[in-house]
Order: sequence, then C-alpha cells, then structure tokens
Amino acid sequence: MTQVSEEQQSADLQREHQKFIQDLGGWKRSHSCGTLDSRNDGETVCLMGWVQYRRDHGGLIFVDLRDRDGLTQVVFSPEIAPKAHKDAHILRSEYVFAVHGRVRPRPEGMVNPNLPTGEIEVVALDWKLLNTSKTPPFPVEDRSDAGENLRLAWRYIDLRRPRMRANLMLRHRASQSVRRYLDESGFVEVETPVLTKSTPEGARDFLVPSRLNEGQFYALPQSPQLFKQLLMISGIDKYFQIVRCFRDEDLRVDRQPEFTQIDIEMSFVNEAAVMNMAEGLVLRLFADVANCALPAPFPRLTWDDAMNRFGVDKPDTRFGLELVDVTDIVRSSTFKLFASAKLVKAMKVPGGEGFTRKEIDDFTEFVKVYGAQGLAWIKIREREWQSPIAKFLSENERNGIVQALDLRAGDIVFFQAAEPVVVNAALGNLRVRLGAHLNLVPENSYNFLWVTDFPLFEYNDAEKRYVACHHPFTSPAEGHFDLMLSDPPSARARAYDLVLNGTEVGSGSIRIHSEQAQRAIFKALDIAPDIAESRFGFLLQALELGAPPHGGIAFGFDRLVMLLAGVTSIRDVIAFPKTQKGVCLLTDAPSSVTATQLRELGLRLRETAKE
Ligand code: AMO
Repeated sequence: MTQVSEEQQSADLQREHQKFIQDLGGWKRSHSCGTLDSRNDGETVCLMGWVQYRRDHGGLIFVDLRDRDGLTQVVFSPEIAPKAHKDAHILRSEYVFAVHGRVRPRPEGMVNPNLPTGEIEVVALDWKLLNTSKTPPFPVEDRSDAGENLRLAWRYIDLRRPRMRANLMLRHRASQSVRRYLDESGFVEVETPVLTKSTPEGARDFLVPSRLNEGQFYALPQSPQLFKQLLMISGIDKYFQIVRCFRDEDLRVDRQPEFTQIDIEMSFVNEAAVMNMAEGLVLRLFADVANCALPAPFPRLTWDDAMNRFGVDKPDTRFGLELVDVTDIVRSSTFKLFASAKLVKAMKVPGGEGFTRKEIDDFTEFVKVYGAQGLAWIKIREREWQSPIAKFLSENERNGIVQALDLRAGDIVFFQAAEPVVVNAALGNLRVRLGAHLNLVPENSYNFLWVTDFPLFEYNDAEKRYVACHHPFTSPAEGHFDLMLSDPPSARARAYDLVLNGTEVGSGSIRIHSEQAQRAIFKALDIAPDIAESRFGFLLQALELGAPPHGGIAFGFDRLVMLLAGVTSIRDVIAFPKTQKGVCLLTDAPSSVTATQLRELGLRLRETAKE
C-alpha cells in the first residue's frame, strides 16, 4: 500500500513539474559531465544530463549530473544564485536538465579521488528543466540488484548504468579497431543480403514470407558464407563485413538468435595466411581495447589432441586436469564396465580427495546431462584407495593407473567408460566445471588456441547420415578426398577454430573451389543431385566460372566483446538482446500479426497456433 501511494505521489509530483519544462533554446553544451577538473577552475560552462542524486544540505542543494561520460557535482547556492537555488527543489532522480555555472574547486575534505571530476564542482548560475521522469523501475546504478528480465524490459534505463554503458563503449571501440585493422590490411567492406535463400544445412533458418511471390520464403542468413565465396569469384580478393547473422537454435549464455560476426574471406590463400591475418586482428584488438600485449603466435592443437587431452573441441587451456586414456590398462579387467567399454578415460584432480559425498553426487548429476550413466571415482589415500570400484581392479591395473596418471595421496580420479562421444563430453565438461569449482582459472588471462584438422563429417543420429562438421563448402585435407567416401569419419577438413578461454570465438576453413569437388561433397553428404542443384545451383555454376582458391574465417564478435568486457553472457554486450526464449521483453517481439497482414502474405495459421 505504502509503495503504491509513494509511486502515486511521485507520479503526481512529476506531472506537476512538467509545467516547468523549457526548450533548449539557444543553450549549447560546452563540456560533457566526465571531463572537468581543476584545470577548468574559474571557467563558465554549460552541462546537460540526468539527475543521478540530489542532496539538500543546510541551504545548499547538491546534484550529481550524469551523462554518457560521467558525473559532475552541481551546487545550487542561495547566496550565489537565489532563483536557481529556489527552483532546484523540484529536481528528482532522472530529471533532465541543463545548467550554466562556474567551475570551482571542491572545499577541503569534499574532494572525491574516485571520480575524474572529483576535484571540482560547478556552481549553478542558471538552469533549465528539460524533462521530468517518473521514478525508474530500478535505480540507475551498478549496485542495483534488479533481475535480468526487469533490466531487459527497461533496457534503455539499464543502459544508463555505468557498467552497461562501458560495455557498449567497449563494443564500439572493438568494432572501430577491427575496421581499422582490416582496412589497413586491404580488406573491402561489402554488404550482403539479409533477405536471402534458405539453404538448410546447419542450424534452423528464420523464414520471411514473400508478399510479391506468394508461398515463397526468404531466409535470414545464418552467415554470409556463400555470398563471401561469390565475392571471391567476383574478384574482390579480400572481403570483410561486421554482419548480423540469424540462427533459430536453442539459446545459451553465448548464443543469441541474432548475433554479429566479423566475417572475412581471402583469395589465393592457404590456412597459414588466414590464421596469420586472424591473429593480427586479435592482437590489434586486444592491444587497442584491453591494452594487452598477447603472446603470439597462438598455440595450436589438432582436433584429435584436443579431444584426447581435454574431451572437448574448445578446451580452456588456462588450467590442467587433462584426461588420460586408460582403455588399454583396463582392457582385460574383471570389472565388466571397464573391460567392455569402447573408451575408458580418467581425470586426476589433485587435492580432490577431500571432496564430500555431496560434491561427488553433484558432479555425477552433472555428467548425466552429457549422457553418462554415472561417474566412477577413486580417492587416493596414503595406505588405501577409497572407492566403490577399487575392489574390482587388479594389482596390475592399479599400478598401470598410478603410472599413467602419476597419482599421489590426496588425489581423486574420475573415470568414464562408454562410447567415446559420451566419455569425452562427460569428462571434458566436468573438467571445466571443476576448473571453476576449485578456482583453478587465473583471472585476467587470455589463452588463445587454434584447433585444427577437424573431421570433415560427423554422423547425425537424427538424420541417419553424415553432415558437414563445419559446413559443406569446406575443403577436405590434402589426400583425404577419397577417404571421404571410403572412411567418412577419418576424413579431415582444412578447418580451424579459434578458442579463447574455452569459448569458440572464431571458425573458418579453406573452401572447395572446384565444381566437381563440391558436387562430390554433396554426394558424400547424401544430398541428391536435384536437391543440390535447387539449393546450391548458383554456387555450382559460379565454381565453373573461374573461382580462385579461397578461404576465410568468421569471428563471433559478441563473444569476443563478452570476454574483453569480463562478463559471462553475450546479452551484457548487446544493446537490445533476446531472452533464452528468444523474446525481446522491451518490445514484446515476437508478437501476433493481423489477419490482413497474413492474408497479404497468403498465410493462414493452424487452429492451434491462433490461441
Ligand atoms: P560458425 O557457424 O562457426 O562459422 O560461426 C562463426 C562464429 O560465430 C559465433 N557464433 C555465435 N555467436 C553468438 N550466437 C550464436 N548463435 C552464434 N553462432 C555462432 C561463434 C563462431 O565461432 N560461415 C562460417 C565461418 C567461415 O567458415 O568463414 C560460420 O558462420 O563464435
């Protein structure tokens, strides 16, 4: 009740204050709110912005005036400017005003060393109310504990908070740095269509019905992949675009349905040229934006090594806990689970002997998400192994495990025995979880890593066929063209990913530039010739008209900025992001449309979808 009446009171007051609103007239800002310091002492200035705080202090009124650049303390004094002071009583949080005043040093004891403008204050001589504001849904300050949904629903208020503003500024500086680097390196920025052709090979497309061609649909691009290849065929040579991409996939903290790529393609290059250029871009970006000199060249791991040692294709190499293959050691164990599994891997966690039952139960639940049946473990103690499975292991097997993992008292070892996909996913993700759980990840370190030699294809259980691991335009590794048909899982691709602290921040490949090879890949992927023709005919045709060898890469720009900003969700570096359910809480998109709009598009909704 009190809250309602407080809100009501504030709304009444705000309405009452609206009559004081004035036009800007001839007033012009002389400075921003983040720039004045003692060097400006005595100057007359004009500032404009929002009320951050207002404090009445024994006759003086203090207002922290905020704009994009910072805060400046404005003082209204009854002695110096009586009218300005009298009128200032109406100022409330988030009111917008302009002030003419004189810069003076703050009195002794009032200096704020934490604020760039903390040495000075501006004594108001005259001011204008430019707008009032209702009480915002949450305070405009970093300390605010507003939940994310509230922040997203009132995103423009959220973006007033210093931290969010800093993220947007950082994003801006990052895109400028990238543009400068690419321009200086001879890349040409070319825009490609947003209404394009649906080529379902990858994530799900967002479709847009065509009014002029009833019953037909455009797709929003998942990436400009084919257009950038066509640009190489057109002779552009070096292309880039900071471009919005759209994918209708399940969302996570590092996935949005629309996201931004730094998309790059180059002609007459091999992997080394693309990777060198990409490293240059990243070095420049981190120097410009984070003032950080990264060690280069970045380390490289083949996909096989990444999977063997870390269980995932985007390993976080800031800490150890590597996986060890113990399949051969337990091959003839009396412990059936180990003896019969295709792959048995172990991960030693030094100091993990102290894990509680509850912690181990939590880890067990965690690995089940990745298809594991359970999680075997052994606690290594001075005189004994404490474990539900130790009794099944022979002396020989124990010795083999001790040697393979270099075990000491105080360690715990986790095991997975199953299909390789499950073993790697379970232990690889548990490793990441343990890295965080045990605080093994050093702060403020950037570990870049290239992962190379990816498989060309992976088997898709749902579709019962091989699909391209990267995309179907990726070249097989030299000598692997025939393997593609004879032994598809062994064929490797000329593909590379750039990983930063366990997040895939970029991905690219050398492309196929021969029409025949491209047709062969489609065939290997079980794409019938007529389907290949109708989906990719324009590409196949282009490949017959003088396509140069080419390759490229695309960086996930939101992810790079997220890591530079030190936040854990890309939503925090996107001005107007969507929720996990793909909803914009600010505008309420997606929303229903009128019957007329549907009719114009020749569409009718299913009965069930209407409700
Ligand atoms: P890929 O599909 O790997 O490659 O995408 C490139 C990079 O884009 C980022 N990314 C995403 N970021 C946020 N939300 C998403 N939903 C999302 N999906 C991908 C990742 C990823 O590494 N055309 C090829 C590139 C090429 O071959 O040149 C492509 O799009 O950081």
